[in-house]
Amino acid sequence: MKKNSPVSRSGRFAGGPAADVARFTQSVSFDWRLWRQDILGSMAHATMLRKIGVLSRAELSAVLRGLDSIALEIRTGKFRWNPGLEDVHMNIEAELTRRVPAGAKLHTGRSRNDQVALDLRLWLRDEILELGREVRLLQAALAGLGQKNSSVLIPGYTHLQRAQPVYFAHHLLAYVEMFDRDHQRLEDCFLRVNVCPLGSGAIAGSTLPLNRGLVAELLAFVDAKGSPKLSQNSMDAVSDRDFAVEFCAAAALLAVHLSRLSEDLILWASSEFRFIKIADAYTTGSSLMPQKKNPDIAELARGKSGRVIGNLVSLLVLLKGLPMTYNRDLQEDKERLFDTADTVRATVRIITAMLPHIHVQYAACEAAASDPALLATDLADYLVRKGMPFRKAHHVVGLVVAVAEKKGRLLNQLTLAELQSVDRSFGRDAPDIFDLGRAMAKRTLVGAPGTKEVREQLARWRRQLALSGVP
Ligand code: ARG
Repeated sequence: MKKNSPVSRSGRFAGGPAADVARFTQSVSFDWRLWRQDILGSMAHATMLRKIGVLSRAELSAVLRGLDSIALEIRTGKFRWNPGLEDVHMNIEAELTRRVPAGAKLHTGRSRNDQVALDLRLWLRDEILELGREVRLLQAALAGLGQKNSSVLIPGYTHLQRAQPVYFAHHLLAYVEMFDRDHQRLEDCFLRVNVCPLGSGAIAGSTLPLNRGLVAELLAFVDAKGSPKLSQNSMDAVSDRDFAVEFCAAAALLAVHLSRLSEDLILWASSEFRFIKIADAYTTGSSLMPQKKNPDIAELARGKSGRVIGNLVSLLVLLKGLPMTYNRDLQEDKERLFDTADTVRATVRIITAMLPHIHVQYAACEAAASDPALLATDLADYLVRKGMPFRKAHHVVGLVVAVAEKKGRLLNQLTLAELQSVDRSFGRDAPDIFDLGRAMAKRTLVGAPGTKEVREQLARWRRQLALSGVP
């Protein structure tokens, strides 16, 4: 074999690729990070080759030792990656074969097509578990901030107009729910990532008696009962990137939730709202305006959702016109997938770190939440309880709002006589409607922002998050 000629080109080719071709086609500059998975996969494959008699016992231990020493060198930064060898798979195999003659048997019944599918699945499995754990910590930070400020009320908004009063904690718990669905989607995605494609070969399996089940078990591609989970069609297995798309889709939705949370934090930190202050360590200044304190973390979190969405779209477009089966286009999946995982995990982590450094400004929240107009719907409900059809009650309260506006007074500053001049149904108890404490106590429906209900939801999340291992 010619020196430096990639393993895949021996025999058929006169020499290595031209330098510019190698530069254009290489993937090792980014897929080197799959080294751990590549080595684990090779170890499992070699162990299986020993079981079916392709490797002798001595050859297997030489291969395992060789892979171990390569792993150590990579981990300690001593391994020299050669872009001429295209990718992580060929770099490791070529180096192994240089050190251990039996390395030349490692690729028996295996192709880089099933190998790269295997490595990606192994890598993504770990990423999903880690991201899932980090999402739990984010939920705990949100619930914690809600708990710390559990008596604070703010206006809830629709159309960004003040609508009805809600507990600050209720608003945060809305995000806890969103992130919980994200967590469920990640768990569901994991089920389809956790399928072993090895043994599919380049496209059509192998004529050798490979033991696919053993490899799957060694690499923990098993279901809840411990049975191996094997891909069932070799052509599908080498060209399927659905699992990567699913992850990128779940991650994009998670990023959108992070972006929406960020937008709320940015609004709340503005001088117009003043609901929160973010501690100095989690804000940045302006290079020109000395007074500025900017919520850059939240802004970047909002901004980064754009590229995560872009990665999902890139993957879908990459796949849509591909004929069966493996095509080199698929090499383009990795940077999108890696970038999605890195970006989303970094964003979840920084937002989680920032949340405990948010200080809720009680006075500003109270001032905004005590706007009696927020209880106009409660006043309509009052009339409904007196027997009035809701449509009429809505109209009557609308008239009351107009009267208050004309007199330049707040809704709760109208006298009973003034209320009754609009409709006789208003009784002495009508002004009680504007007691905010009572109003919040009345919201007893499941999922409503009532005083007791929100307390119970906070407790439920504390229990649930503790069950999923969050401190
Ligand atoms: N570097 C390739 C990739 O990332 C590995 C598989 C290459 N297979 C092939 N037949 N050239 O997809």
